[in-house]
Amino acid sequence: MTDPRSYIQTILPRNTPVAKEGRAFAPANIALCKYWGKRDEAFKLPLTGSLSVSLGRLGTHMRIRPADRDSLTLNGTEQAPASAISRRLFGFLDLFRDPGTALAVDSKNTLPTAAGLASSASAFAAAVLALNELFGWEADSDTLSQLARFGSGSACRSVRHGFMEWHPGERPDGSDSFATSLDADWPEFRIGILTVSNAPKPTGSGEGMKRTRDTSALYRSWPDQVTGDLPLIREAVRERDLNTLGRTAEHNALAMHATMIASWPPLIYWSPETLAALHRLHALREQGLPVYATLDAGPNIKLLFEHPSAHDLLREFADLQVVNPEEF
Ligand code: PMV
Repeated sequence: MTDPRSYIQTILPRNTPVAKEGRAFAPANIALCKYWGKRDEAFKLPLTGSLSVSLGRLGTHMRIRPADRDSLTLNGTEQAPASAISRRLFGFLDLFRDPGTALAVDSKNTLPTAAGLASSASAFAAAVLALNELFGWEADSDTLSQLARFGSGSACRSVRHGFMEWHPGERPDGSDSFATSLDADWPEFRIGILTVSNAPKPTGSGEGMKRTRDTSALYRSWPDQVTGDLPLIREAVRERDLNTLGRTAEHNALAMHATMIASWPPLIYWSPETLAALHRLHALREQGLPVYATLDAGPNIKLLFEHPSAHDLLREFADLQVVNPEEF
């Protein structure tokens, strides 16, 4: 197998700017069936499939222009070239550009960076969409998804709005590993973001996945969990069946966290507030409110419900940020 840059160069028509700038927005996404674990590190190929929904207007606006030197401005503040975030982004851009092509990147997140709300997914997807314009690739959505995957795996599900399924693929070069749209609409479906903490997560997802693979015995059963959950979730989205979707998505997220917790040193992404909110949610469900939860590699909770429950939930969780994935 070749290296990522050589592979990417075989599928791109151009790697220098043909336009004055490229501009794009990509939404963040929340997995309903989670991706946790790679079968290949360099190509960011997942062990299993996964399925997500995008977060409407929450995501990353990015503008990329040719420049005399590389620079990254994030939410209005220029980042040091040696900062982890600059190195990660320009390392990613190096996969696509000719050496000597300096770029000025202006990125604005409409959600908090590194709080388990997947801002890296929307950032890498926005970068690929902006480069598509700047370099004039005219690439289709499957190709753009494949390219975004090299930034962070879940970015491949952020190149389009709506429900996206990441097909794990089988080929060593990852040419069959990208996300496609379910083309399902669900006007009543809502995500509620319960921000328990904005602090950056202590262990990033890449490192967390490796630790889980290397030390958690539960990781061996994780693919079976996904094999059971993914078709149920896909079907529930198509049928707009909140109870099946919510039950399966919550179970899937808790099973992922169980594999993390069973790692050593343990990966406990939750804070006491996370657990308190989960208990409140379960009490509401006992009382008949159809609401479910999912959690990524961080302490924050995303509620899954339908529009008619919004009023009750906002009364219960005053800080809840309600997102309609179809509004963007
Ligand atoms: O794409 P990464 O490396 O940031 O990993 C994302 C992992 C989870 O958010 C926990 C799950 C998912 O499928 O998005």
